Amino acid sequence: MPKITMNINGRETSTEVENRTLLSTALRENLHLTGTHIGCDTSQCGACVVHVNGKAVKSCSVFAAELDGATVDTIEGQANADGSLNVIQQAFQDHHGLQCGFCTPGMVMSAAELLKVNPKPSEAEIRDYLEGNICRCTGYQGIVNAIMAASGQDVPSIAAE
Ligand code: FES
Ligand code: FES
Repeated sequence: MPKITMNINGRETSTEVENRTLLSTALRENLHLTGTHIGCDTSQCGACVVHVNGKAVKSCSVFAAELDGATVDTIEGQANADGSLNVIQQAFQDHHGLQCGFCTPGMVMSAAELLKVNPKPSEAEIRDYLEGNICRCTGYQGIVNAIMAASGQDVPSIAAE
């Protein structure tokens, strides 16, 4: 089996994978980074979103064997250095952006990418960007509010629109 080395959350990490092993499987089963969730395994739900070389990717849609030398960031690496929640994670907590939490790692990773490319997104832009992330229990307003708050925008005024 091919051995690959990736920089995962700032640490060089090696593992052996089959050519058919998906990144989502490699993260969860080989490396025990189970914060990346698998909801569909068919590139539909967005629960498995991670960042590969700085871009949000559905990790069930790429083969791990193709990522030798890549930089991968997962939800496990998102907290602040002191272990506290980062601004996006805290906003999800503060604005009821989750209930069961299954979709949340993917939502947070997608939100991080969105705020990197668009630091002050409108509500419509957030909803459009999250088109590939499905939540089955919270509803989307709390998630949208959380991302508005994480971007420093006024959530109550948005909710009142
Ligand atoms: S598990 Fe990857 S998109 Fe659903
Ligand atoms: S919080 Fe339960 S699926 Fe989104």
